[in-house]
Order: sequence, then C-alpha cells, then structure tokens
Amino acid sequence: MTDRYAVIGQPIAHSLSPRIHSMFAQQVGAKICYEAVEISPDRLAVMLPRLHAEHYLGLNVTLPHKTAVAALCEESSERAEAAGAVNTLIRTPTGWRGDNTDGEGLIRDLARLGVAIEGKRVLILGAGGAARGIIPPLLVQRPLELAVSNRTPWKPEELIKIFHARGPIRASTHLALKGDRFDLVINATSAGHKGEMPRMPEGLLATGAAAYDLSYGKVAGPFTEWARNQGATLIADGLGMLAEQAAAAFALWRGVRPETMSVLKTLRL
Ligand code: ATR
Repeated sequence: MTDRYAVIGQPIAHSLSPRIHSMFAQQVGAKICYEAVEISPDRLAVMLPRLHAEHYLGLNVTLPHKTAVAALCEESSERAEAAGAVNTLIRTPTGWRGDNTDGEGLIRDLARLGVAIEGKRVLILGAGGAARGIIPPLLVQRPLELAVSNRTPWKPEELIKIFHARGPIRASTHLALKGDRFDLVINATSAGHKGEMPRMPEGLLATGAAAYDLSYGKVAGPFTEWARNQGATLIADGLGMLAEQAAAAFALWRGVRPETMSVLKTLRL
C-alpha cells in the first residue's frame, strides 16, 4: 500500500504542500500519496480519528486548525506545547503525536539567507498565534533583544508572561517603538491578508537590516513595500520557511531530510 499523508485546513485548495511533498518524495525515491483535505472547524474532532483509521501516516495542519489540533493530540513535543500550536501530526499506534516545525523552518530559512540572530536586535510585529510560535526558537538563537509589538497592547504582554524566562524579550505597541532600531524585523501579523500594513514609526531599521514576512506571495506585499521604503538591505517572504517546515515534517515522518533549495527554486518559477 502507498504511504498516505495529507495537509488539513480550510480553505485548502491553494495549499502548496502537496506539490512540495511530492517533490521531496521524488527526490528521496519514496512512493507516497499526499492529499489536501478540507476540514471545517466543527468536523475536526471527528476527522482526526477517521484519518487515523484510514491509515494516514502523517498530517500537516494549516489554518485555521493549528491551535485546535494541539488539544486533540494524544501526545505532543515540547516545541508544540510552547507554541500552543501544532503544524505536524505523526501517527502513533493509537492516535496522533503533535509537533511544530514552523519555528525550525523560520530559523533554517534565516540561516539560508545569511541573516544572523545572535547578538542582534529583533522585532516581531504581531502577537497572535504566528508570533507565539516563533518566539521560543528565536530566543534559542540568543538575540540581544526580542521586542514583540502589536496594535492591541495587552496581547504581547501575555506572551512576555509566558516566555520571559527564556530570554531578553519585551512588549510594546507599534507606535511606542519610536526611536528604537532593529537589525531584523519579522512580520507575524495577518494584516497583509487585508492588503494592510500596521502603522509604524519611521526609522526602525538599523543599517543593513533584514525584513522577513512569515506570509508569502501577494499577502507579503504591504510589508515588503514598507521594508523597501524604510531601506531594508534584505527583504524576504515566507516561502522558504514553508519549504523548510515541510522538510522538517517529512524528516519526522520518514527519517530522511530532503533538500529544499531546488524545491524553493521550482516554487518561485
Ligand atoms: P495568527 O494566528 O495568524 O497570528 P491571530 O492570532 O488572529 O492570527 O493574530 C493576528 C495578528 O495580526 C494580531 O497580532 C493582530 O493584531 P491585534 O492583536 O491588534 O488584532 C494583527 N493584525 C491583524 N490585522 C491587522 C492590521 N490591519 N493592522 C495591524 N495589526 C493587525
């Protein structure tokens, strides 16, 4: 029987995961079947056991299920618990083990781009689920400081309460950042989905600064444009992170880590 995998979410039709995983499988000579399965939030608790019964070996989880799935796992990794979200499910004999490869994906992509984190001043825009997931892996890289800024002030403060013991993290509103300088700014807001960019003070980027959007394609447009106007030296969207988180999931499932460079090149065509 062909090994079965899927990505679950809603909407799911435009997910790049089936293409990415097919390329990985081809690369390592594995015969897999990878589907995109649309599941509405109210069907999630029913569908996870069903997909297990149908012998899926692993699942990727995307919006809007990353947080809800975390509560439905039989067991989960430390990084999934810290993120409060799951993007990868690994089959166990009796259920699903939840993991989260998003943070690893970001760190690997930043390394690929030559963006240093150690000793640098890093700013995350946004304080929702996406921001939460990348805080612990960024702190592991020992930044000089990690500022989390948001439109709604209390949200980053909640995150700082959870993660303050892990490193030099502070909360802010966007406008209160006036006068600060950062070497790396990461957009973790969902503002780009509405074609928007949060209102930021001028001059936040230090000389040589990098700007990275966790989203990719058109959604990353407003942030990318802002970064260009602010004189960022390096600007990247999250397509590389998508490929890297997928590679990490593939490695968890099959014990072999595929190469991402050629896959990323094909995706950009
Ligand atoms: P996700 O799981 O993608 O992080 P989320 O938990 O809904 O989604 O969080 C969305 C983030 O984007 C929040 O930080 C939100 O800011 P608020 O907490 O102030 O709502 C931010 N965001 C969304 N639209 C925005 C906009 N138009 N301008 C500024 N921030 C925005």
